[in-house]
Amino acid sequence: MASLTIRKLDEALKSQLRLRAARNGRSMEEEIRLILAAAGEETEPPPAALPQPAAAAMTARPQARVLLVISGGIAAYKSLDLIRRLKERGIAVRVVMTQAAQEFVTPLVAGAIAGGHVHTDLFDERTEFDIGHIRLARETDLVVVAPATADLMAKMANGLATDLASTVLLATDRPVLIAPAMNPRMWAHKATQRNLARLVADGTTVVGPNAGEMAERGEAGVGRMAEPLEIAAAVETLLRARGARPLAGKRVLITSGPTHEPIDPVRYIANRSSGKQGHAIARAAVDAGAAVTLVSGPVGLPDPAGANVVHVESARDMLAAVEAALPADVAIFAAAVADWRVEGASAQKLKKTAGGPPALSLAENPDILATIARRKDGRPPLVIGFAAETEQVVAHAKAKLARKRCDWILANDVSAESGVMGGDQNTIHLVSADGVETWPTQTKDEVARMLIERAAAALAAMPGGQP
Ligand code: C5P
Repeated sequence: MASLTIRKLDEALKSQLRLRAARNGRSMEEEIRLILAAAGEETEPPPAALPQPAAAAMTARPQARVLLVISGGIAAYKSLDLIRRLKERGIAVRVVMTQAAQEFVTPLVAGAIAGGHVHTDLFDERTEFDIGHIRLARETDLVVVAPATADLMAKMANGLATDLASTVLLATDRPVLIAPAMNPRMWAHKATQRNLARLVADGTTVVGPNAGEMAERGEAGVGRMAEPLEIAAAVETLLRARGARPLAGKRVLITSGPTHEPIDPVRYIANRSSGKQGHAIARAAVDAGAAVTLVSGPVGLPDPAGANVVHVESARDMLAAVEAALPADVAIFAAAVADWRVEGASAQKLKKTAGGPPALSLAENPDILATIARRKDGRPPLVIGFAAETEQVVAHAKAKLARKRCDWILANDVSAESGVMGGDQNTIHLVSADGVETWPTQTKDEVARMLIERAAAALAAMPGGQP
């Protein structure tokens, strides 16, 4: 009902505008601009192509570009304000609208505010503005989906490409920010939450939704689209992060997770490592622009987007994968490698016998960190290990630094009380030749970002390093 009324109103307004523009001998877009200007709203003249003149905020760098995908929800009207907020920040905005979005706002108005043609069709050869979905997907620094409906989120999570918006989202290799907006029950539905989890695992950033009144009378709950200012702030943060790529052109090698040491084809020795810290480091390194190889033991975590992931089981496989991945500028050994393996693991499943349990004889595994740190040829300039300790954390870490000949040891307390193993927080002591630095307790993601920042700074300070 609401969308029908809006559509009728829209059609009536459009035909009035058409008449007015014809009477005044102007184009429709020009007419809209003049009306908005008279109402105190600023719009840009319609340029044929990006980039447009930069506003104050980002003058030093090339103008930041955002591709805004508007999908069909009542919150679409807020996207017009979002366009203005982004433009105020000197960001060039290109707009794609789904068919459903056009039930709520017209491409004409969105285009007048954005200062350019709004793209709506996958095949739009009739217009001079057709630049193709691949260019739309790539000629941007960030893709923002606001509002992101349950339907578009489902398409994105499943890789569907059924219209221009979903095709662009599948074709892009740029970061994606979504601002979901929908009825609270749709938001809470398991299917939407499943799609959300998948999108987050794929590296999508999410802003909102917020709690509050919905457009439907009497409905309240979580589902309102984040306010345009909140979305604009998230855009700025992502653009800044994208601008700062201190490891661009560098190769980072990371180990993560436990190893499984077979006893027989069905049994193995393992440990409680979740891989959360190593995987977080891989994500942070990708975000910093590095070419990342992650050698991962068996974990229940998704592969970090953008990293080259090599899956291994045992310590010996992990060492082989690490050696195959060299050379690297930085090697970070976050895996909890099993110290011992079962000597002569059985090729067949061991049977219970009347003679009692089998005696397992253990052999020492190769120390991957020490092997790489002691290499004469092809040692990465920065080799970093972890020390998981349950007591005398710093003292043991110092001894380990000397013994393994690595450059830094990140020591942490993994006693049961610390909750580090499998948990989301970590307290790190960075031990190096320069001394010991204790970091505040923070999430594993924050530890990862801090470590990557430090590693980038250390590389830059090395002879031949880049700023
Ligand atoms: O000797 P410890 O296991 O405490 O050393 C921990 C550090 O050494 C971690 O960085 C871990 O990834 C690395 N390590 C390794 N290979 C092993 C044992 C530990 O790379 N076999």
